[in-house]
Amino acid sequence: MDYNLEQGGPTLNPDAAASAPDRKAAYVDNGNDIIDPARYYEASFKDKEWDRLWTRVWTIAGITADIPEIGDYMKYDLLHESFIIVRVGDGANDIKAFYNVCGHRGNQLVQNDMGSVASFTCSFHSWRYALDGTLEHITDAESFQPDILAHAPNMVEVAHDVIAGVVFINMDDNPQPLRDFLGVVADHMESFNVDKMHVARHVRTEWVANWKTGIDAFYETYHLHSVHPETQGVMADIDVQLDCYPNGMSRMIVPIGKASPRIEDQVTVNEGLAAMLSEVGIDPVEFDGNAGDVQEAIRTKKRETAKIVGLDYDPLVDIQLTDSFATGVFPNVQFGLHPEGAFLMRFMPHPDNPQHFTYDTMTLVRFVDDPSFNVPGWMGLPEGTDCSGDVRPDIEYKGIGVPPELGLVLDQDSDLLPVVQRGLRSRAFQGPLWSEQEQRLRHFHRELDRYLEGEK
Ligand code: FES
Ligand SMILES: [Fe+2]
Repeated sequence: MDYNLEQGGPTLNPDAAASAPDRKAAYVDNGNDIIDPARYYEASFKDKEWDRLWTRVWTIAGITADIPEIGDYMKYDLLHESFIIVRVGDGANDIKAFYNVCGHRGNQLVQNDMGSVASFTCSFHSWRYALDGTLEHITDAESFQPDILAHAPNMVEVAHDVIAGVVFINMDDNPQPLRDFLGVVADHMESFNVDKMHVARHVRTEWVANWKTGIDAFYETYHLHSVHPETQGVMADIDVQLDCYPNGMSRMIVPIGKASPRIEDQVTVNEGLAAMLSEVGIDPVEFDGNAGDVQEAIRTKKRETAKIVGLDYDPLVDIQLTDSFATGVFPNVQFGLHPEGAFLMRFMPHPDNPQHFTYDTMTLVRFVDDPSFNVPGWMGLPEGTDCSGDVRPDIEYKGIGVPPELGLVLDQDSDLLPVVQRGLRSRAFQGPLWSEQEQRLRHFHRELDRYLEGEK
């Protein structure tokens, strides 16, 4: 294989405009140091991450589509901390974010993942807070000494901001502006119209591995041929454009509808490609092109369909219509962006156990109520899933070792990761030896180190 080490691998569209979402970023040289694998299992490293990373960085708390009405709230847990995001007005971004704690004795104010309230009433002694966090009612206020009563604690706000309908929070008192932090990643999220999507499925699974073991596995396609061989007919795993951006952000554009260069036959329209043609309404039997023409045919057809159903696909560049824009939002998110929907995957560390994380994944869809429009089968939604957005599905919880049932590929990853985690702890393992196909991993770990070593 050819691999352009100087440019950090393939460029999918050499003609991309400077501001276009498919523009190849300049290669970032993060050196060739080998990291100490202790970061994947040591409790002291987890504690350092809490002190120096999680309490100081923006993380994704949820999406505004989940709280459409005033009083709708969602709970967001990050390690041992918990937050409430609540809608307080009709404007798209009229929301507030608070620590989920009552100022009286520390009870958590909400316990449900989501809900709708007129005010927050604590379940311990019924203190009541307005949606804007103001303490409105102290039960038996006469029984408090005036000095105690004088504290009258309101709910404590946490910094938040919204971009493309995605809510971020930051525990730092003086955080970098969110748009500066995200850089072009904000533009990419906006270009895919994430703010017009809603959750069709939400699964939370417990995995016996460090959260970074999870990130590492999802940030590269180097393992596809081995772990997910069935993807080889439709995913060009080596022809992946890798882009590393400031602040630990990164993405990979994975060509879909194109066979892996590892496959010898690059001409025959294989079963997988035929299925992709069918899905957009092209009869593969009638199709007179070869395998190399499939992507173009799918793009053309998708643009036609979009016009019929009233979706504005004109601003999208060609490869946005077929390929997977797997975007790494530092520190703990991979956002798989597509025009029809997105996979928002959060790798949530366990509060106490560094060898345990929660894989939290939301499948977002951009639904159009038109018979010409189908939610694509590759989004992996079970038969009969309601994609209308009328009802927000409950989170499906799956325990340790239970496959996420988010399709074969993810089940394969969930089988693999605990085994990798065990290997990472071996006395004989000296640390990962990353290829340039794995450059996003190095970029991510390098940024993590900047936080932990006090450079950020
Ligand atoms: S802890 Fe909330 S009212 Fe007592
Ligand atoms: Fe995988």
